[in-house]
Amino acid sequence: MNDQPRSRPQGTSQGKSQGRPKGKPYRRPQRDPVRILAFEALRAVDERDAYANLVLPSLLRNAEAEAAKKGGEFDRRDAALATELVYGTLRRQGTYDAVIAACVDRPLREVDPPVLDVLALGAHQLLGTRIPPHAAVSATVELARCVLGDGRARFVNAVLRKIAAQDLDAWVAQVAPPYDDDPEAHLAVVHSHPRWIVSALWDALGGGRAGIEDLLEADNERPEVTLVARPGRSTAEEVAASLPLEATEPGRWSPYAVRLAEGGDPGAVDAVREGRAGVQDEGSQLVAAAVAAAPLDGRDARWLDGCAGPGGKAALLAALAAQRGALLVASEKQPHRARLVERTLAGNPGPYQVIVADGTRPAWAEGSFDRVLVDVPCTGLGALRRRPEARWRRKAEDVAGFATLQRGLLTEALRAVRVGGVVGYATCSPHPAETRAVVEDVLRGRGEAEPLTAEWIDARPLMPGVHAVGDGPDVQLWPHLHGTDAMYLALLRRTG
Ligand SMILES: C[S@@+](CC[C@H](N)C(=O)[O-])C[C@H]1O[C@@H](n2cnc3c(N)ncnc32)[C@H](O)[C@@H]1O
Repeated sequence: MNDQPRSRPQGTSQGKSQGRPKGKPYRRPQRDPVRILAFEALRAVDERDAYANLVLPSLLRNAEAEAAKKGGEFDRRDAALATELVYGTLRRQGTYDAVIAACVDRPLREVDPPVLDVLALGAHQLLGTRIPPHAAVSATVELARCVLGDGRARFVNAVLRKIAAQDLDAWVAQVAPPYDDDPEAHLAVVHSHPRWIVSALWDALGGGRAGIEDLLEADNERPEVTLVARPGRSTAEEVAASLPLEATEPGRWSPYAVRLAEGGDPGAVDAVREGRAGVQDEGSQLVAAAVAAAPLDGRDARWLDGCAGPGGKAALLAALAAQRGALLVASEKQPHRARLVERTLAGNPGPYQVIVADGTRPAWAEGSFDRVLVDVPCTGLGALRRRPEARWRRKAEDVAGFATLQRGLLTEALRAVRVGGVVGYATCSPHPAETRAVVEDVLRGRGEAEPLTAEWIDARPLMPGVHAVGDGPDVQLWPHLHGTDAMYLALLRRTG
């Protein structure tokens, strides 16, 4: 499969004629606010590289206001359908593009992107939802009439009728290369991931076909919303008790976690509004808690989060530091993200400082800290569930650039900690070049005149009860095994 199934506009003219078949009276297209909103979100993602999770809420707010102005309503069900259409279409874009390609008589790069977006929305309704096929086709053709014009709507109609002729399984059997000929290309089409990501995830995961298929499918699921009850400010039991019984489940692994039932709105939880709790994946909770729990001899008074924005792990670390009377310094390179950290840490019961600093050119003296976390910038391949468009935007070449920055940040983190102190190196990517390879490079002192020396700490016992985290000493979490993002954590103790 093409790793980048879409391409930029080629200025083609498919179906552009605005004429209508002779003899038929003109009927105005019906505007369906849900599908128009979904189309606008897909255009924003494609045209201006918007993030779906940022663009969608503002489009939903606009749609509500617009409906209210006209005396109507854009209700929760409309919002849920629009969200499903946008997220589902983006996640499954690779599969849908392969199907669409089999139904048009030219390469996809010659189909105008807005037409492709409408076709993909139609394909998702036909192949990925329970919307009855006739309703999916007619709603999408009406959308096409509104946003593309009648001529191109006829093209959309013709393609969707071909797609509707069989279900997803039959299409996949037709368009995916056989597994035995090319396993990665097969999985890329079936599970809608770029091939290079299939390959990288498979390298990281190891094992046979079943595991990688489970992982790729987990990336296509909507993640549940998990809350963290910040210690000293609330408890998981209190947060759960503040909500109806059926609205929550206990965390799977983290003692601070509360999982919200589908459709649960964290903004409606008092503890979240008051900053005593926050929204945080359990994998991130486990990482911060393990850094705080790693064994340490001597002073334990100064902690650093070297890549703190937007502040999720910093807030948990700060709450845990407060219980020991320790100071947390939360450092972030981007000023606007440092402001988010300020907001997240507000109300922390113990001492903390938020500073703007480049972790590769630190603003602190060597050996200043007892515990340091660097949750480094990465490709985000472990959080594909949350960012449905990310897999199509990332390139294999991005990995090397991140790895250089990651080595710099880890090296400086080791310099920042005193001898005997602990460093946690975390990423939300399981790509081998961003995880253990970085740590091993730094431990070998690659590129350093005076290498810092450090030893591994076994991170596994610091995540009690969490199974299948790897052979250690580092830990790798997985969406399909743990229900978390694919967080990686290496723990090191500076020895010299
Ligand atoms: C993966 S995010 C950290 C997430 C954060 N730990 C949390 O749990 O909310 C990485 C952060 O590192 C920041 N960053 C990137 N380069 C940096 C650098 N050279 N020094 C410090 N921070 C940097 C990014 O702006 C981003 O906010």
